Amino acid sequence: MNITIVGTGYVGLVTGTTLAELGNTVYCVDIDAKKVEAMKQGSVPIYEPGLEEMFLRNIQAQRLFFTTELKEALEESEVIYLALPTPPGEDGSADLSYVLSVSNQIGELLTDYKVIVNKSTVPVGTADKVRETIAAKTKIPFDVVSNPEFLREGFAVEDSMNPARVIVGSESERAKEIIAKIYQPFTNTGIPIIFMDEKSSELTKYASNSFLAVKITFMNEIANYCEKVGADVDKVRLGMGSDDRIGHRFLFPGIGYGGSCFPKDVKALIKSGKQEDFDFQILEATENVNQAQKVILVSEIEKYFGGNLQGKKIAVWGLAFKANTDDIREASSLDNIEKLLEKGATISAYDAIAEENVRKLLGDKIAYSKDMYSALENADCLLIATEWSEFKNPNFEIMAEKMNNKAIFDGRNMFPLEQIEDKGFFYKSIGRKTLG
Ligand code: UDX
Repeated sequence: MNITIVGTGYVGLVTGTTLAELGNTVYCVDIDAKKVEAMKQGSVPIYEPGLEEMFLRNIQAQRLFFTTELKEALEESEVIYLALPTPPGEDGSADLSYVLSVSNQIGELLTDYKVIVNKSTVPVGTADKVRETIAAKTKIPFDVVSNPEFLREGFAVEDSMNPARVIVGSESERAKEIIAKIYQPFTNTGIPIIFMDEKSSELTKYASNSFLAVKITFMNEIANYCEKVGADVDKVRLGMGSDDRIGHRFLFPGIGYGGSCFPKDVKALIKSGKQEDFDFQILEATENVNQAQKVILVSEIEKYFGGNLQGKKIAVWGLAFKANTDDIREASSLDNIEKLLEKGATISAYDAIAEENVRKLLGDKIAYSKDMYSALENADCLLIATEWSEFKNPNFEIMAEKMNNKAIFDGRNMFPLEQIEDKGFFYKSIGRKTLG
């Protein structure tokens, strides 16, 4: 099938590459001419394990094309995916201006029947708005389908090639048949495709992300309570997760969730609720708890230094909002750095992948280290903010040699207590006994 993807951001690029890999001819459209030119030359604009090979393979096979011309791509395609940004507006609600402006253009350019698929995370009722916008411009028949994306950063290729499920919101038999054909390679291997109405499909995305945010936040509160009563969250987590109604995943406590999805989607769902005079009390609580959780170690660091951080040098390992990505959006590291700087500390940070993005944001407000050990040179303590694998098994002797104090504040529970208890460090993690 011939498919157009409008928007080559994270979701658009991964979706386009995946659909090409499944054997379709895919035209990726973006208004950014420089980016389009670079992609044509084989340069992938985002960091995502495994994406580059798949991207290059499909360009080579002439199944993946890039253009700035929506009209040309549209003429070639039966199906048009919208993978456009829906940034939070001032009030937290999703800004639909990109989605609706492209819908408007599609309405003007339509020459024959097309299926317009919404991949972006959009509030309930957006499919209707897209339909109305296009219909205002044309009499040619078309269908609008909601098909939310559930991929995780760092695992985008894995998730998009092997999704847990495909959700399709559409009441048009014609559109459903076309979409079912696109995802046949998935359904052939047993991946479920679940058809529903558009609104339920749109809400499934928000409900899934919000549920996971609640799950993490619940565990963070349990962890904080563990510390009060002397329980160990690692044990509680294992015990809880073994009930398959709960499951082991997304039960890892830490310094809060971040990233481009959870914070934005939780806020947007709260806001959508308010528009219907509906209070998502559990989500409001989740947001507040998460905000506090992100910087929960700052007060611990302060306590360790007797309430005064003036002139203290704090090493930070990890800047990305989670491992395996260079994304720093809503990263807990940034909230911590901001607070620590405010209190007069200096920061030497290390993150091989996300450093560049932090440099753009913070410039020389903090120092950057070329490796994890040099960040510790004369540091008064270490804060671990991202769970990069390379931090899992450090050489504690080198660490002790470099640091002024052997003190670690671990926001990602990187080390089992048994691994570190005989190393002579002060070690504060989340929801477990403090060592030292
Ligand atoms: C998420 C959803 O998982 C994905 O389905 C959706 O399409 C986009 O949003 P992503 O933001 O890439 O994906 O990251 P994810 O791996 O889900 O982690 C989100 C945040 O939760 C991170 O900050 C992570 O550190 C945190 N987290 C995750 C925890 O604190 N504990 C956990 O147990 C799991």
